[in-house]
Amino acid sequence: MSESGRAASRTAVLVCQGRASANGRAGVGQFADPVAVALLRVAERTAVDEVRANTPPKGWQERTAYESVRACAEVVVPRTVAIDEALRARVTGQLVILGAGLDTRAWRMPELAQSDVWEVDHPASQQDKRNRLAEAAPVLRGPDEGDLLTAELPAISRTVRFTPVDFAVDDLGAALDAAGHDPAAPTTWLWEGVVPYLTRDEVRATVAALAARTVTGSALVVNYQAPSARAAAGRLLTRVLGSSVTSGEPWRSLWRPQRMAALLAEYGLRVVSDDNLLTLAHALGSPARGRTSLRSGRVAIAESH
Ligand SMILES: C[S@@+](CC[C@H](N)C(=O)[O-])C[C@H]1O[C@@H](n2cnc3c(N)ncnc32)[C@H](O)[C@@H]1O
Repeated sequence: MSESGRAASRTAVLVCQGRASANGRAGVGQFADPVAVALLRVAERTAVDEVRANTPPKGWQERTAYESVRACAEVVVPRTVAIDEALRARVTGQLVILGAGLDTRAWRMPELAQSDVWEVDHPASQQDKRNRLAEAAPVLRGPDEGDLLTAELPAISRTVRFTPVDFAVDDLGAALDAAGHDPAAPTTWLWEGVVPYLTRDEVRATVAALAARTVTGSALVVNYQAPSARAAAGRLLTRVLGSSVTSGEPWRSLWRPQRMAALLAEYGLRVVSDDNLLTLAHALGSPARGRTSLRSGRVAIAESH
């Protein structure tokens, strides 16, 4: 629990489990996240191993965990591929990841070698990630490099600057200033899997804060959820059945594509593409059993001209 009384994000762990279970199994040739598994604790790898082996466990609780990871893998494969492609096409030297959770891009994307990466996240989630990175370093390095065992896992990007921010209360601009972000140079902003957890006012305030540090040549890649009655019913059912993973992190805002585009346009960001994850999954040939949640998840790219 952090000073603000909030625990580290459980949904961040779930999406990391989704990426770890899909690595080498889905979207092969386009999707890969070999680092994700290293950020998971031993108990969190059980469901990942079961999904990878396609062997659902017997117990009800274990089966619920398995199905959450399996369904999450379906969502994160097209989402990750679309976002990675967008980032590769927009390397600006400054990448700010808003609500980074257990994002692994700074540790796995060679295209970021000449970029500084700011990982912005809620303080509790960020501390949790840093603990995991410290634990992961010996896992990936092997046991023979004694002195290095307590260091964090080394990133591929030029730097990773951990920037703790609670979007509900903190000043994003001030935090980025303090962390050395240059508002006069182009920035690529990534906002993946976070918008639903913020209120409309928090989303607007965050867009305003990032737009104030966005010059020509910058871009925002944003993943958000569009409203869907069927998806809402499914989520309610999951909660009633007692899945604890998402219950502490309720969805607070859903956006129709037109409303998201209008909000971004108000702040000088023009949407150049906005696709749902079902379309992206079909294009990849990746699994798409959860058509409802795939259809309501979207990745939009907006540019500043
Ligand atoms: C589902 S996770 C997504 C993590 C990561 N972007 C990914 O896609 O793997 C949601 C993330 O949003 C962050 N988040 C939610 N509400 C937040 C807030 N008010 N301030 C800062 N971060 C927040 C959580 O800490 C968590 O890292």
